[in-house]
Amino acid sequence: MAASQVLVAANRGPLSYTLDPDGSLSARRGGGGLVSGLSAALARQPDALWICAALSDADREAVRRGVSEPGVRMLDIDPTTYDDAYNGIANSVLWFTHHHLYDVPREPVFDARFRRQWASYAAYNQAFAEALAEEAAQGACVLVQDYHLALVPGALRALRPDLRIAHFTHTPWASKEYLSMLPDDVREQLLDGMLGADVVGFHTGAWASAFLDGAGRGNVAVFPLGVDADELRSLAHRPEVDDKLAGLRAEVGDRKAIVRVDRTELSKNILRGLLAYRELLTAHPEWRGRVVHLASAYPSRQDLKVYRDYTQAVRELAMEVNEEFGTADWQPVLVSVQDDFARSLAAYRMADVALVNPVRDGMNLVAKEIPVVSEAGCALVLSRGAGAYEELRGDALTVNPYDVTETASALHAALAMPDPERAERTKRLAAAATALPPTAWFEAQLSALRA
Ligand code: G6P
Repeated sequence: MAASQVLVAANRGPLSYTLDPDGSLSARRGGGGLVSGLSAALARQPDALWICAALSDADREAVRRGVSEPGVRMLDIDPTTYDDAYNGIANSVLWFTHHHLYDVPREPVFDARFRRQWASYAAYNQAFAEALAEEAAQGACVLVQDYHLALVPGALRALRPDLRIAHFTHTPWASKEYLSMLPDDVREQLLDGMLGADVVGFHTGAWASAFLDGAGRGNVAVFPLGVDADELRSLAHRPEVDDKLAGLRAEVGDRKAIVRVDRTELSKNILRGLLAYRELLTAHPEWRGRVVHLASAYPSRQDLKVYRDYTQAVRELAMEVNEEFGTADWQPVLVSVQDDFARSLAAYRMADVALVNPVRDGMNLVAKEIPVVSEAGCALVLSRGAGAYEELRGDALTVNPYDVTETASALHAALAMPDPERAERTKRLAAAATALPPTAWFEAQLSALRA
């Protein structure tokens, strides 16, 4: 029965399943900025339906067994079609285009294989459009999320002209030059798909302008997602986080902590961050033995070789820095490549400096979360390529993400910042970070859609 008044469509759902050795299924919270923002917002929308893809064999098994959570519908898409759409197009083409990540002498290559994958991407988008058309009540509001589902607004509009449709992009939007790398017909389908929405939303004015520049038209709007301070602080003070904090404090001692938390993601620029830390220890030997770099990177998109190689390169570079500077009682970098949310929150609490240096990033919620949670106040070293730069630049130490020397100097300035100044800046950063928490962000989009 078509009943839902508010529907969300996103590749990743609020949870995914794992198949335990005894054959039972257990549910786990999904990762990434999109899921944390939307989960918080939808917790207050009891009647909303979230349509997502089954991401793994365990998820597909859950669909087959009819295991589900209220308010969530998982689509079981044929695994080859899904792999082409998610790994082939969404993560290898669209993500790279919007983040300007291509190694241009070799990439991109738009060949027959790409054409097959593009057809799968269209089929996967069509499956979402059909499920939405089935579930939506007359005149319902549908909020379609991200680059995985760029064709959904157009396809859904064709099936259900009565619906109000928004699309929201959590990534940057490619410059016109990057967008024009796509084959002409593909670029047109992509833009037509997005323009099927009544409202096309982005985190920042820069990404909205880039879209208008590429599309030549469209009803764009800017909704900069922020964090819910109360919710985040209560998550960060659970007993399991206290335990992790005690463990980390024992390792760090009374040294200062430079904290970063990312997915193992190319655009996050983790390697240049480590190079900057190395340059800090070289240029400012006074910090040796007095600082620890806590780098948490949780594994992401490991089906793609370029991500596996990147993850390995991060591990190796961290090891090199430890070999170069480490002493019997000081390990300069503590890297953790695992999905450990409690450890990340513990690291947030003890941050003296937060390092957020992506080459290009839709928003970057970590830049907003750390100032809210850090206990002693933290100085934020922030890339000009992060969406969060638009709101946080005034109180951050801002850097060109490619400039390792500038980043090293900013780390030095951040470590040396007088306590009162750090506290003042942290207060203002936290205020900016919480200006539009997930619930208000979601409501703002619903209002724009209903207007
Ligand atoms: C970014 C994207 C999200 C995505 C997340 C995690 O934040 O904008 O759509 O869910 O990365 O990536 P994954 O591929 O694991 O879903």
